[in-house]
Amino acid sequence: MDCTYKNPNAPIEDRVKDLLSRMTLQEKIGQMTQIERSVATPADLKSFSIGSILSAGGSVPFQKALPADWADMVDKFQQAALESRLGIPLIYGIDAVHGNNSVYGATIFPHNVGLGATRDADLAQRIGAATALEVRATGIHYDFAPCVAVCRDPRWGRCFECYSEDTNIVRKMTSIITGLQGKPPADYPKGYPFVAGRNNVIACAKHFVGDGGTEKGINEGNTILSYDDLESIHMAPYLDCISQGVSTIMASYSSWNGRQLHADHFLLTEILKDKLGFKGFVISDWEALDRLTEPRGSNYCYCISTAVNAGVDMVMVPLRYKQFMDDLTFLVESGEVLMSRIDDAVERILRVKFVAGLFEYPFSDRSLLDIVGCKLHRELAREAVRKSLVLLKNGKNPENPFLPLDRTAKRILVAGSHADNLGYQCGGWTSTWFGGSGRITIGTTILDAIRESAGDETEVIYDEYPSTNTLAGQYSFAIVVVGEPPYAETLGDNKELVIPFNGSDIISSVADKIPTLAILISGRPLVLEPQVLEKVDAFIAAWLPGTEGRGVTDVVFGDFEFEGRLPMTWFRSNDQLPMNPGQNSYDPLFPLGFGLTYNKEKKP
Ligand code: GLC
Repeated sequence: MDCTYKNPNAPIEDRVKDLLSRMTLQEKIGQMTQIERSVATPADLKSFSIGSILSAGGSVPFQKALPADWADMVDKFQQAALESRLGIPLIYGIDAVHGNNSVYGATIFPHNVGLGATRDADLAQRIGAATALEVRATGIHYDFAPCVAVCRDPRWGRCFECYSEDTNIVRKMTSIITGLQGKPPADYPKGYPFVAGRNNVIACAKHFVGDGGTEKGINEGNTILSYDDLESIHMAPYLDCISQGVSTIMASYSSWNGRQLHADHFLLTEILKDKLGFKGFVISDWEALDRLTEPRGSNYCYCISTAVNAGVDMVMVPLRYKQFMDDLTFLVESGEVLMSRIDDAVERILRVKFVAGLFEYPFSDRSLLDIVGCKLHRELAREAVRKSLVLLKNGKNPENPFLPLDRTAKRILVAGSHADNLGYQCGGWTSTWFGGSGRITIGTTILDAIRESAGDETEVIYDEYPSTNTLAGQYSFAIVVVGEPPYAETLGDNKELVIPFNGSDIISSVADKIPTLAILISGRPLVLEPQVLEKVDAFIAAWLPGTEGRGVTDVVFGDFEFEGRLPMTWFRSNDQLPMNPGQNSYDPLFPLGFGLTYNKEKKP
């Protein structure tokens, strides 16, 4: 039988059309369905031709599962999918947002806010390529990244997932997509999805559109803007993503002028697909359809018809998938959702699968296993840490800089809640959805790094919350590392933005007695009281650096120069928020783009 869709040499659009023509309504709806791994069964994958599975944050085969265990799990699901009537391969998705962060031992890169401080598009691309390798090594095909939100208010719990408040910085960092997916050839058709090969992943630009502009930074809130402002501030990065061949785009939980994005046909279809020419597929967010009604998930048929008719192609259900499939079947049979809409959605999904080569290479490539957490990637992450650090103060007077510190000093005091906590320095979306504390994976804390870098004769004293007795000792200088605990999404929404765990008091108590460098580990700018800033001899914003703490000491001890510049405005007090350049009330403690160096102050 002439199966064009099985012919790897046939044009992709011919393969899509041929396969679509052979599919039943149930198989089409199966392809539009993404389910969580915890509810996936080989039997259902096979009988319903389910299109995709995902790991929610922290949804792992088992604790400390090795890459081979991940690949075994994904390949087992894939085998079941290939046993379906038409043998359509599934795509397995995960949030690898700063490395393959759910996988124990994976390289954890700085979160996006730190990468935004580097403004280094080439670095972002190299990180994308490394991340893609560590994702494919685990058998996974699909990465719900990058987040290209433009964070206009640091009270938003997802500020750390954003490159900047400045649209142009975000636009520049979309280069990560050509690392994740590979770089399309110059004459590649505009808006068409691209995946170079087996060392690359299907990427996902998210969350379309305006998620970073909600009122008061409330997660999943309402972005009140004219269309022109929505387009120029929040939509612009998507044009760069589409021009770089991004294969999928995730709709935002948030609303625009009171209309939920998942229900917005104008933005999802008329703008994104028709005007911008996006030819990949639009995926919903987690249970986002359920959020279209109150109480959540009530009148599910209405939720489904609204979202699918608005332009959602694949639905991250992800648990009650049988009801989803039954209800969508009913909606098509009753004419509420036209078959032409279903066909458009399935064409887009199949197109991405063909482009990604999954019909030819559906299973994991075991030759990649050792690449997870490899030295080369950790060195890349260390480079990213170096370039992300922003020096806000260096010396109580400019003529007498405090940094670089002397690694051969006689006695160093290291203090603070974040000096020796790998989970804290990685932040959210690490090991679990909202991260953790302590040795949650393999890496180097800032204290480890100080101990490794210090001279043989140097005594390093560590006291997380130094007593007066400790402070009475003799030290060459102190390094105090404080900051935020990990968080994710709404858990991170915060109006006060003060340094947690009495971080300011720790800094003050140490700086009162000892020349002090303060390092802040956070997903965003936090309140810096003038008297605290006054007391310290130097201050570094280190964002959420990930596993490679040596990147911090590389710069602090002077082996490398500071390059980072603020990706976010550093406000004086939270009652100024939201505060972005261009407002006449723009009166920051440190402006967007600020960053000192060892040689001269950098102009924004
Ligand atoms: C979450 C996030 C989204 C993520 C998805 C799958 O709720 O909003 O960024 O990709 O669910 O984990």
